[in-house]
Amino acid sequence: MTTVTWVNDLSTLVDAKAAQPDVLLVDLRHAPAVPPQLASLKRQHPTTNVILLASTLEPALMLEGMRAGVNECIAEPLRQADIDAALTGLLGQHRPGVAGPVFAFVGAKGGVGTTTTAVNVATTLTKLSPAGALLIDLHLAYGDAAVFLGADARFSVLDALENLHRLDPQFLKSLVCRTVSGLDLLASADRPTTRVPDVRRLGSVIQLAASQYSYTVLDVPRSDLTVLDSLDHVANIVVVANQELATVRNAGRMAAALRVRYPKTNVMTVINRTDGRSEINHQDVEKVVGSTIAHQVPSDYRRALLAMHKGRPLALDNHNQLSASFTALARDLAGVETKKSERATSGFKGLLSGRR
Ligand SMILES: Nc1ncnc2c1ncn2[C@@H]1O[C@H](COP(=O)(O)OP(=O)(O)OP(=O)(O)O)[C@@H](O)[C@H]1O
Ligand SMILES: [Mg+2]
Repeated sequence: MTTVTWVNDLSTLVDAKAAQPDVLLVDLRHAPAVPPQLASLKRQHPTTNVILLASTLEPALMLEGMRAGVNECIAEPLRQADIDAALTGLLGQHRPGVAGPVFAFVGAKGGVGTTTTAVNVATTLTKLSPAGALLIDLHLAYGDAAVFLGADARFSVLDALENLHRLDPQFLKSLVCRTVSGLDLLASADRPTTRVPDVRRLGSVIQLAASQYSYTVLDVPRSDLTVLDSLDHVANIVVVANQELATVRNAGRMAAALRVRYPKTNVMTVINRTDGRSEINHQDVEKVVGSTIAHQVPSDYRRALLAMHKGRPLALDNHNQLSASFTALARDLAGVETKKSERATSGFKGLLSGRR
């Protein structure tokens, strides 16, 4: 659909909730400068495609446009072929129909196995997906996902946040790193943040990722409340816990707080490193966290550590309980039923329902 509007009305598009056009063509053939609202628009909606129509490709105007985050500039004489090429270039990068759910993993405490779970679930989802899966390590610096995936990532989520004005499908693609299973990784930076990035904009990064992959998995730092506040586009939040009293209590509080903050999101708890001899049993955990625990992952320290040292996710190997548990969790999130023969024996209580 084509809509013609006055440049002054651009301000209405800037609003965070304003529906965005596929392409915004800004006609500057009779205007002296790039409208100031454009930069705000691109900051608020980095994925909105903007084309400038100019009377000449004047360097000052082009620079101004680039600074505002404009995607393309077309000058007179206007030729249909140039406009078609620009539109195909921009819209061709979008893969409509791909848009898939986002699953976030957050630990009830440090060291419970959140990254292990996120990495292995994401690896299984890659095998299930037609348009690939992406794991985003939302630890802004020094996250571990790359180690578990044996990846040597050159760019990070920090680069995405520091270049939001350039963030489009192609730029995202240039930041991710393909790992051994075919899973893409947007890694954590191995440098500290020099400038405080606008973490509130993480939502835009997640939204763009979701538009490009069948599944997007987030390894979420528990301690960063700003990151925890950026999960609006997430279908399922998985709180990872174990059977220690402090962790179970935290899991209960976190799940309750997350349900209030994200009422449309399915918040579930899984137990990693299940210990059948623990004083705190399955039912005790369910009572505290206020929901069924449909997935428990057995403890296998040797196998988990070996996988990490090899940089090869456990989920790539069959015939062990650990891998079967992660696979079942991934299939449950994806809404794919697990075959009886593939189920791990420890405590599956059926499928969780209610994805958004
Ligand atoms: N099911 C399991 N059985 C045995 N060991 C496990 C299991 N899951 C994870 N581990 C081991 O526990 C350690 C911590 O795992 P991981 O880094 O995934 O935890 P985390 O919760 O992400 O930690 P952090 O809070 O530092 O981010 C690793 O050595 C990992 O190999
Ligand atoms: Mg971790």
